[in-house]
Amino acid sequence: MSEMLSVIVDGLWRQGDKSLAVRLVAENGETLPGWQPGAHIDVHLPCGIIRQYSLTGACGDESYLICVGRETASRGGSRYIHETLRPGQKLSISSPRNLFPLNQAERVVLLAAGIGITPLYAMALQLEASGTPFTLHYYVKKRENAAFVREVSGGWRNGECIIHASCEGESPRARLSQDLPAAHDGLHVYTCGPVEFMTKVRDVAAGKGWAETHIHSEAFQPVVPAANADTGDVFTVTLASTGERWPVPADKTIAQVLLENGVAVPLSCEMGICGACLTPVIDGVVDHRDTVQSAEEKGARDQQVALCCSRSHSGELVIGL
Ligand code: FES
Repeated sequence: MSEMLSVIVDGLWRQGDKSLAVRLVAENGETLPGWQPGAHIDVHLPCGIIRQYSLTGACGDESYLICVGRETASRGGSRYIHETLRPGQKLSISSPRNLFPLNQAERVVLLAAGIGITPLYAMALQLEASGTPFTLHYYVKKRENAAFVREVSGGWRNGECIIHASCEGESPRARLSQDLPAAHDGLHVYTCGPVEFMTKVRDVAAGKGWAETHIHSEAFQPVVPAANADTGDVFTVTLASTGERWPVPADKTIAQVLLENGVAVPLSCEMGICGACLTPVIDGVVDHRDTVQSAEEKGARDQQVALCCSRSHSGELVIGL
């Protein structure tokens, strides 16, 4: 688990009509640990909820900036931040973790939907600073929903930002095939937003011959298992270090079974979106249910399994614990 940091809410302000920007400073007055665009932190809210939020703004700042959308189907985190969190309040957060790093490229296309703008706005600032040409397409339902409008709207020397509003006929469905250029060796795309949006990006990219390795994404929502997923299957999880093995019934996660048997499992989101519980797979065929790993990582020889949500296609799964 990453080191925990004590921070104070230094300010909260409106970003568009649906989101709140939150600035966090270290309680001890020191500069917070450095980070790179794409990094996120776990925020431990006083109501007992832990949520992951991407860091945004310039990565050289002494403070951290996050931006939280008001979710209509909030499971409690965004509601707490919007209704209860106040300047001066203390919070515990994890150090930044980066599972969505920006790679060196000749040119970059950034595709953000809704609150997915947060990591991509940080990436745009970094690309601008490094002189890498970029285009940021930012899709929102209505123009007034957009966050960081002033910041992204003008003044770039190396890039441009175009805001598309669905209610003006510019939905991702209508726009993506023209906004995503043809694949090119030096061109990379970074996308963030709802799972359906990122799936659409990948579909359009596949149709244009993009290689998986040039498409980078981060999900904010857990994978919803397909209705016909074989969730009823029981399998056995085995610890490579001791050979201990336990059945994992359909109504329990691997992590729950391990914890019940006294095995320490680092957990955070428990939804397959943060990467805290990723563990090496020694043997077996994983039924990956997380959104933190890319399709390539899920198909690699040296795989990792998200213990909080994934299951097994094989009767036995041997893990590197
Ligand atoms: S605890 Fe976050 S991916 Fe498993």
